[in-house]
Amino acid sequence: MSQLKGLLLEEMQDLLHAEMQLTKALPEMVAAAHNSKLKEAFEKHLEQTHEHVERLKQAFELLGAKAQPKPCKAMAGLVEEGKETIQEGKEKEPLVADLSLVTAAQKVEHYEISGYGTVRALARLINEIEVATLLSHTLGDEERADFLLTTLSKPLLQQASMKDYDAEQGQPKAKKAQASHKGA
Ligand SMILES: [Fe+2]
Repeated sequence: MSQLKGLLLEEMQDLLHAEMQLTKALPEMVAAAHNSKLKEAFEKHLEQTHEHVERLKQAFELLGAKAQPKPCKAMAGLVEEGKETIQEGKEKEPLVADLSLVTAAQKVEHYEISGYGTVRALARLINEIEVATLLSHTLGDEERADFLLTTLSKPLLQQASMKDYDAEQGQPKAKKAQASHKGA
């Protein structure tokens, strides 16, 4: 086997494990999201993630290799951080908790975008065009998911900036200022 094909397979094994971890982590993101559009986006991405696993399996088959996942420590770390985000979000104002979920999810998307960009380039390089096309479809899904999260976060950011939440109290600053004025 050529070294480039070996590298392609290794990177696909990493992505397979990353996607498999996400099929378990995304339902927790769906449950944690307050905003209905954000919840819907996570649900849609969960469905797509199952398809991504299947596409990778097809790509392994086309390359005549076993679909063997290789522990993806980077995604394990991102999922772990995502769990912390969910836990910490329980103490936060819903709007702020949702914004932190978007942040966690976009870190995951960016990892996947870089991973799929690499494997697609490697597949093209060794002339595995069918494999490259499969990987390209998934890369497109990840890029669209990232774009959607950016779009969904805009009104949330706007609402948050209008309320200008106080980090310690979790109360709008305007209200807090009013309360202290009354007390003086
Ligand atoms: Fe994916």
